Amino acid sequence: MLPNLAADQQRVVQRMSVLLAEMPVTDPRLRDAMQYSLLLGGKRLRPFLVYAVGRMLGATLTDLDGPAAAIECLHSYSLIHDDLPAMDDDDLRRGQPTCHKAFDEATAILAGDALQTLAFEILTQHPFAQVTTVRQLQLIRELAQQSGYQGMCGGQAIDLAHTDKTMSLAALEQMHRLKTGALIRCAVHFGWLCSPDHNPQHLQALQQYAAAIGLAFQVQDDILDIESDTVTLGKPQGSDLQANKVTYPALLGLEAAKHKAADLVAEAQQALQTLPYDTTELAALAGYVIARKF
Ligand code: IPE
Ligand code: IPE
Ligand code: MG
Ligand code: MG
Ligand code: MG
Repeated sequence: MLPNLAADQQRVVQRMSVLLAEMPVTDPRLRDAMQYSLLLGGKRLRPFLVYAVGRMLGATLTDLDGPAAAIECLHSYSLIHDDLPAMDDDDLRRGQPTCHKAFDEATAILAGDALQTLAFEILTQHPFAQVTTVRQLQLIRELAQQSGYQGMCGGQAIDLAHTDKTMSLAALEQMHRLKTGALIRCAVHFGWLCSPDHNPQHLQALQQYAAAIGLAFQVQDDILDIESDTVTLGKPQGSDLQANKVTYPALLGLEAAKHKAADLVAEAQQALQTLPYDTTELAALAGYVIARKF
């Protein structure tokens, strides 16, 4: 269904391994914690999106390697912090003990911090061939915006503020668009910024696609928290229920949440239809977002 997925996953893991190996060791424990959280497991969906969008638009894979590695570093940091006792307090991630369990809380906080800054370092240092300096700056700004106050962190704050409470469907949607959708939109934007395509209408269609799959991704995450099992998920099943989180299934019921996810995938696939490119891979990727079992 996604013939390039395995190769792209391998490619970004290889790139991240080299980047970590090249870092001069300051504190070996911190380095080990960063490596542990970055390299052990994970679907690498955001890097795959960077590669898939870039590939479709004619970017080179070597240019895409930097942004793909950067967004995965940022995402891994967000997971380390999301699992901390002060946030979701989870013990299992990607089938392994969470970073603060394998190491300790202080090391996990620092590993997250250092992976976040590493993401920006990668974007500034990557030897781009086809990407202009102006576009390189846009990559950096995009990552900063989508991961910070106006993006992932903002969404995480809303999530924490509403634990043990309820919220309207509109507020829930906004929370999902920020905490999870923002980085997925960033990945798609990265693919466009690395490509020779400068058509704002194409970017707009891609952003519609990204917004729909970004929201669908979190709706499916919430569904899997109910329907899947801990071994398949690699993280504790039932964590949302136990922590009394507001989710789509909690507000709408499981069946309506599934319909919502399917509608969003259809919306994403519709947005692709205006693009004068072969959108087969991106259409299949949208389907994967809700067909996935972990
Ligand atoms: C989990 O993301 C956190 C959410 C934003 C829902 P992923 O499901 O992409 O986690 P990994 O990277 O595959 O472990
Ligand atoms: C998304 O929400 C987490 C991030 C934005 C990092 P969740 O808290 O639902 O993610 P999981 O289920 O722990 O992976
Ligand atoms: Mg969370
Ligand atoms: Mg969590
Ligand atoms: Mg979840």
